Amino acid sequence: MKISVVGCGYLGAVHAAAMAQLGHEVVGVDVDADKVEHLAAGKPPFYEPGLADVLTSAGATGRLRFSTDVADVAGAAVHFLAVGTPQSTTGLGADLSHVDAAVDGLLPHLRPGDLVAGKSTVPVGTAADLGGRVRATGALLAWNPEFLREGHAVDDTIRPDRLVYGADPAEADDVVRLLDEVYADAIAAGTPRLVTNLATAELVKTAANAFLATKISFINAMAEIAEVAGADVTQLADALGHDARIGRRFLDAGVGFGGGCLPKDIRAFTARAEELGRGESLRFLTEVDAINLRRRERVVDMAVDALGGSVFGKKVAVLGVTFKPESDDVRDSPALDVAVRLKGLGAEVVATDPQGIDNATARHPQLLYTRQTDEALRHADLVVLVTEWREYRELDPDAVGQLARGRTIIDGRNVLDRDAWRAAGWRYVGMGRP
Ligand code: UGA
Repeated sequence: MKISVVGCGYLGAVHAAAMAQLGHEVVGVDVDADKVEHLAAGKPPFYEPGLADVLTSAGATGRLRFSTDVADVAGAAVHFLAVGTPQSTTGLGADLSHVDAAVDGLLPHLRPGDLVAGKSTVPVGTAADLGGRVRATGALLAWNPEFLREGHAVDDTIRPDRLVYGADPAEADDVVRLLDEVYADAIAAGTPRLVTNLATAELVKTAANAFLATKISFINAMAEIAEVAGADVTQLADALGHDARIGRRFLDAGVGFGGGCLPKDIRAFTARAEELGRGESLRFLTEVDAINLRRRERVVDMAVDALGGSVFGKKVAVLGVTFKPESDDVRDSPALDVAVRLKGLGAEVVATDPQGIDNATARHPQLLYTRQTDEALRHADLVVLVTEWREYRELDPDAVGQLARGRTIIDGRNVLDRDAWRAAGWRYVGMGRP
């Protein structure tokens, strides 16, 4: 099938490459010439495990192209919109200017019967607003939300856990026919496929992220209680997780959630609910956000306590700057935020990360970074683990003890073997653990 993907960020680049890998003929379009050049050369412009291989193998078949010229979408039967919807600079709502620009760019190249399939996460009602413009060309409009996780994006795209097609009832049969052809492999593999109206499909995505954020903030709220009550939130989560109705996943307490999705999506969702006159329905998400942001402060407070009341002039090794492991993404990263706050309090912060240093440097050049974990740890008065990269989880407490000056480690993700660190003479401070 001939497919175009407009927007080649974390979502679009992976989608384009994965669709070509599945046998489709794909053109990915982006306004960023540098990004396009990298992708065309088979080099991902960001870190995503497995993406380089797919870009190279799909590129070698001749089925995958990238371009800065939106006219190159002409001839595709399905056009995926995969542009970003960041938080607006003026409020909590989503900035839809990229979606608008992408649709405007597509319009002159659409033929009757073509399908525009939105993948970007948008406030409910966006598709209805775009419908008139798209349908004036004779093309169809669907919303087909994407649930991929950074760090697992290629696999999540090739083997999604569900497919959601949002369509206007009058167009549903054609939308299903076209998208079933796109996702033929996943459908043959038995992937559940739900056909909904446009508003439901838009809501599925925001509701899913709101639920995940709520689950994380729930366990972080329990961590806050555990901290004063002398309970252990990791054991609590294990015990809760055995109830299949609750489940153990996304119950890891720590420094909280970040990234380019969960934080801005819950804010945009509350803003949209207000617009719809149902602000009270999602007011709890404001609390979810507040709990989440308090965890960053909590880590900073723990650092101040650990250093006897002030971090001023103390060397603090910050392990991790990305919002989660297996990603170079530092958008709204709790880890980077903790590093910046400690620096603001006068600490001599040395931050390290296997993949995130370039992005972190671009955002916060005032911090000192090193790619060498040992260098960050050397003479540190305090060690703070805030992103659970495997190499930090597997640190040997004795070896770290040879490098660091202090003997306190704050485990902002509750991933270290507490007993092993204590046995090696460390003061171990976890999140929501006695
Ligand atoms: C999230 C969703 O999980 C995807 O399903 C969705 O498609 C994506 O947003 C999106 O909207 O595009 P992602 O942002 O890649 O994916 O990250 P997650 O794996 O959801 O993690 C988000 C944050 O929550 C990370 O900072 C992670 O460290 C934190 N987290 C996760 C916790 O603090 N505790 C947990 O138990 C789980």
